[in-house]
Amino acid sequence: MNKVRVGSVGLGRLGMQHAENIAGRIQNAELAALCDVDKPKLEETAKRLGVQYRFSIFEEMITCKDVDAIVLVSPSALHTRQIAAAMNAGKHVFSEKPLGVTVAECKEAEKAVEAHPDLVFMLGFMRRFDESYKYAHDKVAAGEIGKPILFRSYSQDPEKFIAGSIAFAPFSGGEFLDMAVHDIDLARWFTGSEPETVYAIGGCYAHPEFAVSNDGDNVSCLLKFKNDCMVFLFAGRTAPHGYNVETEIIGTKGILRIASVPQKNLVEILDSYGVRKECSENFLERFDTAYVNEVQEFVNCIVEKRKPLVTVYDGTRVSEIAYTCKAAFETGELIRF
Ligand SMILES: NC(=O)c1ccc[n+]([C@@H]2O[C@H](COP(=O)([O-])OP(=O)(O)OC[C@H]3O[C@@H](n4cnc5c(N)ncnc54)[C@H](O)[C@@H]3O)[C@@H](O)[C@H]2O)c1
Repeated sequence: MNKVRVGSVGLGRLGMQHAENIAGRIQNAELAALCDVDKPKLEETAKRLGVQYRFSIFEEMITCKDVDAIVLVSPSALHTRQIAAAMNAGKHVFSEKPLGVTVAECKEAEKAVEAHPDLVFMLGFMRRFDESYKYAHDKVAAGEIGKPILFRSYSQDPEKFIAGSIAFAPFSGGEFLDMAVHDIDLARWFTGSEPETVYAIGGCYAHPEFAVSNDGDNVSCLLKFKNDCMVFLFAGRTAPHGYNVETEIIGTKGILRIASVPQKNLVEILDSYGVRKECSENFLERFDTAYVNEVQEFVNCIVEKRKPLVTVYDGTRVSEIAYTCKAAFETGELIRF
């Protein structure tokens, strides 16, 4: 195979970035087709990025003979249906998280992937492709901090995006599924283990609107993993300073911290506010390189005829765990997995 010809679906906040990356930053790939129901945006983007095929109907895109692989950045509720349709049409598939919005849907996606062992399927858990997380993971895997005792991870969106978060709340699956999925994925990846019990708390501290969806604006949970590691996760929508993702792993022989002071770059500002560093504004800025690296890995797997390490089963397991955290939050009970 020469270049992998990619069709990208969804040109929203993240989809636009993926499309631009595939068009200009991914080796051995060509952005051959775009799909979005928003026709003006579709036409403008296709023209700007020099894309030959444009589709407003997904089912038409997957019949295109000049497309080898589909990148799904469509709304979460469409993922599992589109994964099955694209793979049945003989296309490799990269899907953004979450795999599905219910565990039953995730199981359907598993069946679609299992039915096509010759095709590559990969799920977008991009933090595993962030340079700092990869570096830290290599150290943990090499035993440099000994046995992990505690894994702590925070995901906080900036307060300035709260209107969008409130509007999306009824469809998001809740904060554990929408935001903490990445932290849950990291906890499994770093500890190499699975949760045994979970207790969750939180609430609507600033925005009562989330209560309508049985959700909170800030939530947290404490999980005991089967290897005895303590896992503490926190997800919030009200960070005053910017997009704050930070992680700490405490081991018997050392401690690793990733972005414990989240910062935009290496610039320090000395002005009438004092001495400060600015914070990333959003996930696009913080994980810019990780979004490139993950799609590069998908393309490399197709070219080199190998399977990605992030599997469809990771998607199902993380969704199961997120929903169990949500149930623990709603009931106030300690839940055993
Ligand atoms: N990995 C991450 O860090 C991360 C971050 C943000 C979003 N996401 C995921 O990416 C996906 C997209 O999120 P977003 O924030 O970009 O969404 P968005 O709402 O900004 O964009 C969705 C796009 O899909 C288009 N669309 C809707 N229905 C369609 C259909 N039937 N066919 C084709 N296009 C259709 C819309 O017109 C819109 O352009 C979601 O599943 C989300 O969970 C992942």
